[in-house]
Amino acid sequence: MTYHQGPTSLWLNLALMTAISGCSNAEPTNTTAPASPNAISLPVIDPYLGEQLFPDEKAIALQTSLLIEKTLRKQYRPGEVRRDAHPKSHGCVKAEFRVEESLPEHLAKGMFIPGKTYQAWIRFSNGSSDATRADIKRDARGMAIKVLGVPGQMILPGEEEASTQDFIMINHPVFFANDPGRYLSLIKHQGSGSVWDKLRAPFDLGAKGTLIALQTINKKIANPVQTRYWSMVPYQLGNGPDRQAVKYSARSCSTTAVSLPDKPGHDYLRDALRSTLQNGDACMDFLVQPRTSSRMEVEDSMTEWKEADAPFYKVATLHIPRQVFDTPEQNRFCENLSFTPWHSLPEHKPLGVTNRARKVIYDHVSRVRHEMNSATRQEPQ
Ligand code: HEM
Repeated sequence: MTYHQGPTSLWLNLALMTAISGCSNAEPTNTTAPASPNAISLPVIDPYLGEQLFPDEKAIALQTSLLIEKTLRKQYRPGEVRRDAHPKSHGCVKAEFRVEESLPEHLAKGMFIPGKTYQAWIRFSNGSSDATRADIKRDARGMAIKVLGVPGQMILPGEEEASTQDFIMINHPVFFANDPGRYLSLIKHQGSGSVWDKLRAPFDLGAKGTLIALQTINKKIANPVQTRYWSMVPYQLGNGPDRQAVKYSARSCSTTAVSLPDKPGHDYLRDALRSTLQNGDACMDFLVQPRTSSRMEVEDSMTEWKEADAPFYKVATLHIPRQVFDTPEQNRFCENLSFTPWHSLPEHKPLGVTNRARKVIYDHVSRVRHEMNSATRQEPQ
């Protein structure tokens, strides 16, 4: 999808919104294979945590996968395929995920082992599906963390032996749709080429979804490491009878205010990240927000879990050491990574219909991307 300026740009921005939409012991798992979204089954729902099946959710996830595949095949030549969503990266940096020395028992679950340090990659991105767009344009911003060397058997079929746990976040606390059918209608209409169809975005998303979408993309940031990010959608924490629903967030450890540059270059967010990490280390807090009431529904990602009702707890520090990250090799490595919330231990299982749909969609779209680029699809060690 391409970005156009003009009177319809507000709604076209919603099209861009659809865009929101190494170091361990294990052997790498090479999982490139012919693309078939049917191969991935939807997860079993967990009624104990409030999950409920959405009508036709599997069919909708399959249709969404195939529609995104069609868009990618039309938009890109083989060898040049980018992510359908968040294709513009500001850089992929090495980090350490340092779990707090002491954690309350209800948070010390899964990979949150008190005192443990993991190596990690973090990819910062713009949400727009137009990778050529200037950073100063309003947009959602993404932060995808891939923690390496995580012990235990992972959820994804065929990738059980991988040792990566991903956490994917955007700089807004809520997602614009609870209904995957609305998301599908949105991308169908935005990709149709007809101006009338493009104007249907508010009808596709409804009033609340449209408002959230506009708030999500209405953002300018000064530096990717000095921005706050949220998981938007919920995750399980722990296994067994004491499992709970949580959301995640990450924010800078520093409270120093940063401002937009006076003359922002086309890629000033990459420049800001490069300059920050040339001059020293950066640091972010990784936070977990346990649900405090069953009224905070796991199938409703459009309603914020207010911090006043459900506080965030720091579980780890993301230490990003001084480094040179902007090299052709590292950028290529990063573009060939695949992030999905389903790169996960069962203790951090993604919850809710948006996440269930993402299980099928991210796998399929990443396979198409790697196939078309003749790139090896494997989880790093
Ligand atoms: C039904 C809902 C959604 C759909 C269909 C969708 C679709 C996609 C697709 C196709 C990709 C590219 C995958 C690849 O090529 O490997 C992607 C990446 C991404 N998505 Fe979503 N997404 C959805 C919901 C969300 C939500 C709720 C978040 C909130 C955190 C999110 C954040 C991101 C981010 C940050 C990336 C970039 C990850 C990276 O750096 O590789 N998405 N999404």
